[in-house]
Amino acid sequence: MSKCEQLQYDFIVVGSGIAGLWTAVHLADGGKVALLTKDDLQQGSTAYAQGGIAVALSDEDDPELHLRDTLEAGAGLCDVPAAEILAFEGPEAVRELIEHGAQFDMENGEYAFGREAAHSQRRIIHAQGDATGAEIERALAAAARERNNIDIFEKTQAAHILTVDGHCVGIQAHDFAAGKPVFFVAKATALATGGLGCLYRVTTNPPVVTGDGIALAYRAGATLKDIEFVQFHPTALAAPGFPKFLMSEALRGDGAQLLNHDGEPFMQRHHKMGNLAPRDEVARAVMQEMKAAHQPFVYLDLQPIGKRRLEKRFPTIVAECRGRGFAVPDQPVPVSPAAHYFMGGVDTDIDCMSSMPGLFAVGECGCISVHGANRLASNSLLEALVFGRRCAVAMANAEALSAATIAEIARREPQAVPVGSGFYHDLRDIMWDNMGAVRSGATLRNALQHVAHLSARVSESEEPTPDEMEAANALLLAGLMAKAALSRRESRGAHYRVEHQGVSEQMRQHTLVRIGDNGEPEIDYRPVELQRHR
Ligand code: FAD
Ligand code: SIN
Repeated sequence: MSKCEQLQYDFIVVGSGIAGLWTAVHLADGGKVALLTKDDLQQGSTAYAQGGIAVALSDEDDPELHLRDTLEAGAGLCDVPAAEILAFEGPEAVRELIEHGAQFDMENGEYAFGREAAHSQRRIIHAQGDATGAEIERALAAAARERNNIDIFEKTQAAHILTVDGHCVGIQAHDFAAGKPVFFVAKATALATGGLGCLYRVTTNPPVVTGDGIALAYRAGATLKDIEFVQFHPTALAAPGFPKFLMSEALRGDGAQLLNHDGEPFMQRHHKMGNLAPRDEVARAVMQEMKAAHQPFVYLDLQPIGKRRLEKRFPTIVAECRGRGFAVPDQPVPVSPAAHYFMGGVDTDIDCMSSMPGLFAVGECGCISVHGANRLASNSLLEALVFGRRCAVAMANAEALSAATIAEIARREPQAVPVGSGFYHDLRDIMWDNMGAVRSGATLRNALQHVAHLSARVSESEEPTPDEMEAANALLLAGLMAKAALSRRESRGAHYRVEHQGVSEQMRQHTLVRIGDNGEPEIDYRPVELQRHR
C-alpha cells in the first residue's frame, strides 16, 4: 500500500475562481466533486474583476456584433467557431449565472450596460459599480458550499498530474494544513488555476496567479498553445504595492482620458479609436509616451466622467484612489501598464478537453482560442461561464476508471515535487524587462539565458513550501514562453517584436509547445480555424 492518503472522487476541479466554481457547480449533479484550491476559496483574479462581463444582452446589441469585435481584437488568431460559441451562447450563460444569485447593476429597469475598449456597443454588465468579480465570487462560492456533492479543500496545492498509460487519473496535491501529500483520484480532472500574471514584476494579478496548472500540464505531457501572448493592461495605478491596483478600462469607456506629461490627450495621435483603441495598442502608446517623457507613468484624467457619476459607477476605484491621496476627479492619477491576462494556456478543444485524455482546462489557464492574440475587454469572465458549462458536460461523459487503474494508483508512492528557491523575485524582473509588451530577439534570448542559469537552483523535495513550488513552475513557464516568443517572428496583437513589425500571413498559426521524448520542449504549429459554423 502507498504511504500517501488516497481520496476517490468522480471529478476533480483545481482552482476556485469563476472557472473552477462554475464548473464544479455544474458537475455536482453528476457525482462527487473534489474542489482543490491552494489558498482560501475566494483568492484569485476573479475577485478583482472590475469592468464586468461582455455579453450581447441589450436590445441594441447582437451576438454577431460581439463576435465581430472579438475577432477584430484577436488580430487574426481567434478560432472562429470558438468565438462564435462565446458570443452566441453568452447571453444564456449569463442568465444562468443570474439564476445562481449574482446580482448586476440595473438602470431604469434594464441592465446598466457599460462600455470598454474595442467594443462597438455598450455591452458590459457590472455589479456594485466596479466590483463585478467580488459579486460573482460571492455568489458562486455560496452555490458551491451549498452543494453536498462538492468537497472543498483549501490550502491544498496541486503538485503533479497523476497519469496511467498517458491518461490523467487525478492529482497529487500537497495539503499544507496537514503538511502531507494526498492523491485525489477521479475519471476527469479540470485545471482552473488561472493565468500567470505573477511571473511579472508588475501585475494586476493577485499572488496565487502563478501559472501552476499550465506548468503541471506541460510536465505531464499535455500540449500548451500560444504561450507567447500576454496581455498588458495600460492603466494600472502607478503607486507602490503588489499587485497593482487596476484603473478599469470602463473609466475610459465613460469618458476618462489618458494625458501625457504636457497635459496632452495623446491617444488620438496613436490610434483612430483614441482612448478606446484595443488594449495592446493603448499599452504600447502609453509606453511610448512614458519613454518620450522619461517618466514611469502617464496620467488618467477622470474629470470628463463627472464627480457624481464617478462616485456612483466606480466606488471601489474612487475609495482606493482617495485612500492613497489622489483627489479624484480633480487630480489626474498616474497610470502605467501591468501584466494582466494570459491569452495562451493548456491547448483545449471547445469542450475544454486537453491533448491528454481525462484532463480538462477551463478559464484563464486553458486556451480554446476565443481571444486570439489579444483578448477583447471583459470577455474572459464570459469565457469561463460559456465554456465551464461545456467542460462539465464533457467531464461527465468521461469513461470511469478501471479497477486495475485504481489499484495501480493505490500502489504508488508520492512523487517528489520540483522546487526552486531564492530566485522568484529575480525571475519576475527578467520577465518584465525582457518579455514585456515590447520584445526583441535580443531580449528574448537574454531571458532564455537567465532562465538556463537559474535552472541550477531547481531541485526536488518531498516537503515543499507553496512558494518553492510556484517558483519552479514559473521558471519552467518562463523558458517555454521565451522559446515560443522567439519562434513567432512577427508582431501580432499583444506579441510585439521590434525587429518584426506587422503580421506575417505565414504565421497566422497557433504555436503548440509540448515536452519531447528527450525531455526538451518541441514547438509545432496549427492553422487557425476560420470556417464559420453559424
Ligand atoms: P482565477 O480567478 O485566477 O482563479 C484561479 C484559482 O486557482 C485560484 O483559486 C487559485 O488559488 C487556484 N490555484 C492556482 N494554482 C493552484 C494550484 N497549484 N493548486 C490549487 N489551486 C490553485 N475579466 C473580465 O472578463 N472582466 C473584467 O472586468 C476583468 N477585470 C479584471 C481585473 C483584474 C484586476 C484582474 C486581475 C483580472 C480581470 N479580468 C477581467 C480577468 C478575469 O478576472 C480573469 O481572467 C478570470 O477571473 C480568471 O478566472 P479563473 O477562474 O480562470 O482564474
Ligand atoms: C478592466 O476593468 O479594465 C478589466 C477588464 C478586463 O480585463 O476584461
